[in-house]
Parts: sequence; C-alpha cells; structure tokens
Amino acid sequence: MKLAVLGTGMVGRAHAEKLAQLKHDVMIGTRDVKKSLGESKPDMMGNPPFGEWKKSHANIRLGTFSEAAKHGEIVINALKGEASVSTLQSLKSELRGKTILDISNPLDFSKGMPPSLFVCNTDSLAEQIQRAVPQSHVVKTLNTMNAFLQVNPNMLENGNHTAFVSGNDSNAKTKVTQMLKEWYGWKDVIDLGDISTARAAEMLLPLWVRLWSSTQNANFNIKVVQEKKL
Ligand SMILES: NC(=O)c1ccc[n+]([C@@H]2O[C@H](COP(=O)([O-])OP(=O)(O)OC[C@H]3O[C@@H](n4cnc5c(N)ncnc54)[C@H](OP(=O)(O)O)[C@@H]3O)[C@@H](O)[C@H]2O)c1
Repeated sequence: MKLAVLGTGMVGRAHAEKLAQLKHDVMIGTRDVKKSLGESKPDMMGNPPFGEWKKSHANIRLGTFSEAAKHGEIVINALKGEASVSTLQSLKSELRGKTILDISNPLDFSKGMPPSLFVCNTDSLAEQIQRAVPQSHVVKTLNTMNAFLQVNPNMLENGNHTAFVSGNDSNAKTKVTQMLKEWYGWKDVIDLGDISTARAAEMLLPLWVRLWSSTQNANFNIKVVQEKKL
C-alpha cells in the first residue's frame, strides 16, 4: 500500500521504517529535502542526522510534505505539534478524502520543562487539524506512548497495554485500528469516540512527562484494566 509519513523526527522515522519493513511503499515528507539530507548533527535527543538515517533506509522514498501527502493513501502526521495545523491546512487538496493518522501532541516548551499544552480542555490539536482539513478523516492515536512502542507494542508485556483512537469517521477509525493491530501488533485498542475525545488522549501528556521524569524511563505505557464482563 502507498503510505505517507509527514515528519522526519523519531516518530516519523519509526513509522516509516516499520511500514517499509512490512513491504509498503512509503514516502517520508520533510520541508526541504536537500536541507534535511544535509543535516550533519544528531538532534537534541541524540538521534543520528536525518541524512545518515536515510542512507540506511534506501527503500523509503523521500519528498516534500506535498509530494508525500499526494503519495499516501493513508497519511501519518508526525509533525511538531505547533506546525501541524498550518502544514496540514496547506496540504488540504493533497489530503482530500484521505485518512490522517494523527500522532502529534500540543506541547508548549516555551517556558521550559515540563511542557504545557497549547490547547486543552475545550478543544484539542486533533480537532484543530480536523477543522483545518474538513474533507479528510483525522484519527488521533498513538500520541500517548513513545515512538518505539508505537510501532512495536510487543516491547512491553507481550503487547498487553492500551492504545486509544478518536475520530469522527467510523471507516477511518476501523482502518486505523486494523493497521494498529495487524501491522504493529496492538492487542488492546480502545475507541474513545468522536474527535473531541482526543482532548483526553492529549491531556494524558502532562502525566506522561511526569512519569518519564520520575521513572527516568520512556519505555512505558498505560494499560486499562477492566472488570471482566460476564
Ligand atoms: N517523540 C516521541 O516519542 C513522541 C511520542 C508521541 C507523540 N509525539 C508527537 O509526534 C510528533 C513528532 O514528534 P518527533 O519527536 O518525531 O519530532 P518533532 O521534532 O516534534 O517534529 C519533527 C517534524 O516537525 C517538522 N517541523 C518542525 N517545525 C516545523 C515548522 N515550523 N513547519 C513545518 N514543519 C515543522 C519537521 O520538519 P523537517 O522534516 O522539515 O525538519 C519534522 O519533520 C510531535 O507532535 C510529538 O509531540 C512524539
């Protein structure tokens, strides 16, 4: 299947790599192809420069955001939160009718650590994106765990922990849920409801950041434990 990943950070790379391993035709999108390939320093998290990563992933196509959005039948949003709405809005026509799997978080680092959320409570980044691209189907998911776990839930507890999905279009949510289960190996995917429920998934981030700080370990996730229904 033709898939697009918008974003060259940890999340974009993890998804592009996983989907290419599964033999999909993947294009990863960036603002400026030449500039991204020319990066020579590791990022703030110590990840190798993008050009170096790309050399070892020759089977993944590279293009501008617009080329990638055109290429993908499903488009993954792995852009910085603050850049997501304007970037996706500028791709409105390329994204028309498509499912957008949105992983972005509305993190505001302007006052340092821990970050706050630049939208919450009565709105969410996912809803802002959905309003910006009304003819696309936004499904919020996987924003509540780190990039490695997103594509490899079996890293922990045999994959027995929880991912959430939120979205207005039930076909798009079904497609994304199948992708999570069949391609990535998720076992427990809870449908929270329409896109406004993404507020809750995004508002888990303040807890995530504090758990990361107190455990000094980013490889953890939330597991929803329920009473068994008879
Ligand atoms: N890191 C994680 O484990 C994790 C976990 C859950 C959710 N998330 C969320 O997933 C998203 C991606 O996170 P990340 O850590 O992989 O990378 P990131 O550093 O948050 O974002 C990288 C991407 O954002 C693009 N970008 C940055 N500023 C931009 C601007 N002004 N205009 C257009 N594009 C811009 C970059 O474009 P270029 O390619 O042109 O540089 C790059 O592709 C974020 O929203 C983050 O909150 C991250």
